[in-house]
Amino acid sequence: MLSSEVLILLCLCGLSLSHQMEWSYDYETQWPGVCNSGFQQSPINIMTRDAVLDIHGSHIRGPLVFRGYGNVAVSAINNGHTLKWNVVENSTAPVLSGGPLRGNYTLLQFHLHWLSEHAIDGMKYPLEIHMVHVKTGLTLDEALERPDGLAVIGVITKVVGGYEEASSFALEEIMPVVPDLLDQNVESSEILNIDMNRLFSPEPQSFYTYHGSLTTPLCQEVVTWIIMDKPLTISDTQYKVFSKVNVGGIDNYRSLQRSNRVVYRSVASCSYALSPSILGVLVTVFRCLASKVTQQIHKGICYIGNAKRKIFGNTLIECSKVHIS
Ligand SMILES: *[C@@H]1O[C@H](CO)[C@@H](O)[C@H](O)[C@H]1NC(C)=O
Ligand SMILES: *[C@@H]1O[C@H](CO)[C@@H](O)[C@H](O)[C@H]1NC(C)=O
Ligand SMILES: [Zn+2]
Repeated sequence: MLSSEVLILLCLCGLSLSHQMEWSYDYETQWPGVCNSGFQQSPINIMTRDAVLDIHGSHIRGPLVFRGYGNVAVSAINNGHTLKWNVVENSTAPVLSGGPLRGNYTLLQFHLHWLSEHAIDGMKYPLEIHMVHVKTGLTLDEALERPDGLAVIGVITKVVGGYEEASSFALEEIMPVVPDLLDQNVESSEILNIDMNRLFSPEPQSFYTYHGSLTTPLCQEVVTWIIMDKPLTISDTQYKVFSKVNVGGIDNYRSLQRSNRVVYRSVASCSYALSPSILGVLVTVFRCLASKVTQQIHKGICYIGNAKRKIFGNTLIECSKVHIS
C-alpha cells in the first residue's frame, strides 16, 4: 500500500519535472511558476500616451550608462527555445547602470525573439533582442529572488528589403553562426568577439521602462525592463534565416500580459516631437508630456502673456493659478 503511494508520488514528481523542462509556446496556460498567477508579468503592450514622462528624474535619474559593450566575448547556442549568445565565463562582461537602475548590472547573455514580445501602441515588430543583465555581485539564482535582480534591455527591430549596406550592419557580427544553430539544442564552440553597440537602437537613450517578469518559465517578477523604442534596422535576407531556425515552432514569443503598471518614458523618447511644423511640435509635446509638465508650459505661456501685459499696462494674471482645461 505504502509503496504504491510512494510510486504515485514519484510519478507525479517526474511528470511535473519533465513538464517544466518541456514547456512550449503552444501551451502557455500550462506554464509553471508564477507565469499564470503573477500580477507583474511581461511582455506588455506599451501605450505611449499613458507612459509617464519623469521630468523631475525621480524614477529615471539620468541617462543609461554603457560600459564595455564594444568588445564582448560570446558563444552561441540554440537552447531549443531561442538563439542565445552567452558572455564567455571569466571574460570581462559589459556593465549597465543609470536610467531607472540603482547600481550596476553585468551582462550575462543576449537572445532573440521573433516576432517581438513587447508591442508599442499595439504594434509588434519582426524581432526583439533581449540583453539580460544580473545585478553585479549576485549569482543568477540570487538575482531571481530579488525584485531588482535583473535588468533586461529590449531592442525592437524593423526589416527592410534589398541589399542596403546599412541594413545588414546591425546583425552582421552575429549572423555567421546562425546557420550552424538551425537545430534545437546545438551549440557553437566558436568564441566571437563582437561589438554590441551595433545591436542597440539608433537612439539608446530613447526608452520605456517598467517592472515586470521573465517571459519564459518560471516567469519570476524580478526584471527592470528597458525597452528601446527606436527600431534597429535589419535586412530581409537576415530575417529570412530565422524562419529556418528550429525553436520548437516557427516563432518564439510569449503572448501579451496585462498592462496594469506604470510605464515610465525617458525624456529622449519625446524627441520625435521635433517635427518640422510648429503645430506638430505643440501637439506632440502636449500629448507626450505628463500633466504636471503641461501645467509648466501653460505657466510659461502665461508668463510670456504677462510680459506683454506689462508693456501694454494691462492687469497681470496670477500665473501659478492657471486653469487647465
Ligand atoms: C573562472 O574562474 C574561476 C575562479 O577563478 C575558476 O574556478 C573557473 O575554473 C574559471 N572558469 C573557466 C571556464 O575558466
Ligand atoms: C559601478 O561600477 C563603477 C565602475 O566600476 C563604480 O565606480 C561604481 O562605484 C559602481 N557602483 C556601485 C553602486 O557599485
Ligand atoms: Zn527574452
